[in-house]
Amino acid sequence: MTVVRSSEVAFDVRDPALVDDPFPTYAAMREAGPILRGGPGQWIVPRYQEVSALLKDQRLTKTLPEAYYRYTVGNEELSAFLSGQNLGQRNRLASKVLVGSFSPGLVKRLGSHMTSLVDDLLDAPLAKGEMDIVTDLALPFPLMVICELLGVPAQEREVLWPHAATLVRAFSDVAFLSDKDVDDAAAALRWLREYLTDLLKRGPEPDSLLSRMATTEADGEKLTPPEIVDNAITVFYAGFETSMGMVSNGIVQLMSEPAQLARLRADRTLIASTVEEMLRFEAPIQVTMRSPLESIDVAGQTVRPGRVLFLLVGSANRDSERFADPDHFDIGRDPNPHLSFGAGSYKCVGAALARAEGAAVLDRLLARVADFEPAAAPQRRPRFNFRTYERVPVRLTPA
Ligand code: HEM
Repeated sequence: MTVVRSSEVAFDVRDPALVDDPFPTYAAMREAGPILRGGPGQWIVPRYQEVSALLKDQRLTKTLPEAYYRYTVGNEELSAFLSGQNLGQRNRLASKVLVGSFSPGLVKRLGSHMTSLVDDLLDAPLAKGEMDIVTDLALPFPLMVICELLGVPAQEREVLWPHAATLVRAFSDVAFLSDKDVDDAAAALRWLREYLTDLLKRGPEPDSLLSRMATTEADGEKLTPPEIVDNAITVFYAGFETSMGMVSNGIVQLMSEPAQLARLRADRTLIASTVEEMLRFEAPIQVTMRSPLESIDVAGQTVRPGRVLFLLVGSANRDSERFADPDHFDIGRDPNPHLSFGAGSYKCVGAALARAEGAAVLDRLLARVADFEPAAAPQRRPRFNFRTYERVPVRLTPA
């Protein structure tokens, strides 16, 4: 995302203090009003009521003007990919095919396999008595899940991972990209396109997302191979750093709240609501952008087409008008209508999978680790959006 500054409240996504702890600033923004001016052509929406309504509003599109990306990314190949320009009018079709290909059976089969994926990742750290939650678990686990989901053969996954990671890192916050990041990301995009095109020709594993996307129809139409490939790459950038954020933010939070961790240990039926609270408390996607297709009214303010609205999901999740005691991390919170997966027609297609990932991680950690505590201060990734950690060193005592 680009630099956003509000004239009413000091808010700059490149400010390290904001990245470290955005929540006091969000509170000031919610206090300042339902819609605040950002930079030229930008509006910021901090409260739950409007964020929730706008996420569901059919008069808004997620496809931002390509000029917006060209301005912020500065690389034609990447900005064309990000703005969905290659798909043009077929963007909706691509998204319908993706949703149709995400069969509940596929998610269920993967879900049952997650336990062993997490167990494999925990073996070596438990033997050593220490681990970095990010590099040993939160990063490789979602990558493994997405590779299985797509049908990437096991022996080819390690070659693919660095390219996927490079591309995803570049997408997660374009305001911070150096020229080298942009070049690396463009090269990674080319590599992934070539690899996935080849895999599609070779025939991916049956009943994988990739093979299902090749046969699934929406509105009587199928996707072409380049469209299937770009859709698959979308799954990488949508489902990797987000899950990594959920796991690393959640574990750091649990370690800092021993009473909540003890409560969870005593009652494992709280795993599902703990995952929801991890998602609410530190939304991996803090902000999502929309552009109106026609002039719309937001709390009395007219927003014209071509303008960009920054919907502050991370702030909406802490709105006291919607959540009692919103800055309290409560693993039993019920109801918990957080907006961390979005809402409406763009709602996350991977939500069930992500929830299963969160539950598998907690289930295996509780079963196999008697105690875990920080070995050093966790290091946050210095990025505003795709909120996550870079390193979370912990000491472990096996169960
Ligand atoms: C904790 C983990 C996750 C979170 C917090 C998350 C959050 C989100 C959100 C907020 C959106 C909608 C963005 C918007 O409205 O602008 C979204 C879209 C999406 N998500 Fe997730 N997601 C997660 C995991 C996953 C996983 C595991 C997958 C797939 C394997 C996935 C696939 C997608 C896809 C394909 C989209 C549509 C992307 C697009 O159209 O650009 N997500 N996700």
